[in-house]
Amino acid sequence: MLDRSALLRAFRCARQCTVDLCAPLEIEDYVVQAMPEASPAKWHLGHTTWFFERAILVDRPGYRVCHADYSFLFNSYYHAFGARWNRNRRGVLSRPTVSEVLAYRRHVDDRIVALLTTADEPTIDEIAMSIELGVHHEQQHQELLVTDIKAALGQPPLYTPYRTRDDSGKEPVVLKGTGAMTSFAGGRYQIGFAADGFAYDNEQPAHDVWLQPFALCDDLVTSGEFLEFVEDGGYERPELWLADGWETVQVQGWTSPHYWVQSAGRWQVYSMFGVHDMAPADPLTHVSYFEADAFARWKQMRLPTEAEWEVAAQKLGHDELRDGSFLESRQFHPAAPRGEGSPLRQLFGEVWQWTASSYMPYPGFQPLGGRFKEYNGKFMNGQYVLRGGSCATPRSHMRMTYRNFFQPDKRWQFTGIRLAA
Ligand SMILES: [Fe+2]
Repeated sequence: MLDRSALLRAFRCARQCTVDLCAPLEIEDYVVQAMPEASPAKWHLGHTTWFFERAILVDRPGYRVCHADYSFLFNSYYHAFGARWNRNRRGVLSRPTVSEVLAYRRHVDDRIVALLTTADEPTIDEIAMSIELGVHHEQQHQELLVTDIKAALGQPPLYTPYRTRDDSGKEPVVLKGTGAMTSFAGGRYQIGFAADGFAYDNEQPAHDVWLQPFALCDDLVTSGEFLEFVEDGGYERPELWLADGWETVQVQGWTSPHYWVQSAGRWQVYSMFGVHDMAPADPLTHVSYFEADAFARWKQMRLPTEAEWEVAAQKLGHDELRDGSFLESRQFHPAAPRGEGSPLRQLFGEVWQWTASSYMPYPGFQPLGGRFKEYNGKFMNGQYVLRGGSCATPRSHMRMTYRNFFQPDKRWQFTGIRLAA
């Protein structure tokens, strides 16, 4: 468990980072909800604040809530904390204003900092777990904030850039994917979190798995490789798709990954830098599980299971997360590998990698105790696990055992593919 000064540092850093991510926005941008599963930036600012208020402050003697209706407006999905505003209609609220929400943040932040600064040691011990959970929760929302801002700004015809690209005048050293794979022996392995420090309940307990021999591709699937699938009629061939995937392609009218734009016969992509020519060596991003699965079938390969992915990461000692770019790079777009090659490049960072594993409880799973029992467990149906983090994930949020999860038709996150055999 973190001590008082580490808690203070982590809290201040996480809270400031969320506000900093909003700095390039115009006031109108804060209110837009580009689609039901995305949320307005203003809502993320309010909700992460509500989380700390609810977890730490509300039950403390003498605390007065900032506003009686904010719990209704900023509770996301916690039935235990009462009724809440409809998720699909977060973007219809022009009030509270952005400055009122920022004042709410200051109200809660001041009290949390005062508590962490002056409380006695037994109180610090009592709140440490909730502060740490709140920091990790805030980091999860930083990634959603980035992808939700991208969804709001990335509307035709303006495709507004979030920031300008800083290339520092240098051409990246791009390692050409070799198509090589790294093989692993079959046998009994252990996966799941068993170390010291913070982990979510869904990563626990550590447990044994039995794997057949398997191999993972050394590189992420690139945009150029996926373009071959598109040009081979990948989106027009039902035999490549799961039934629900094919249905989704028809209903949504998909003909390419999200944010691909065809202009005058050439393919471009919308990134946080605006619209630019597709770089074929860049890792593919913004594909759904259905597209990942269809592409794997087209390549006569498959997606890895989450156990295979984690065992590969263990074997290669990749828990230092050494070569991928994360939120701190402020690129918000996956980049081709640079520098010297190694097996399993970019296992962490760049893009979340879809796995073939359904998001299920590990054997012996126990939901988080206390107030936030609903945090993870109730979402364990109808979703697939993704591993590795992305260019929008805070680096300190990521672990080798981390399990992200989304429904198979979702593609507004930075989601990509690493193939297995
Ligand atoms: Fe949340």
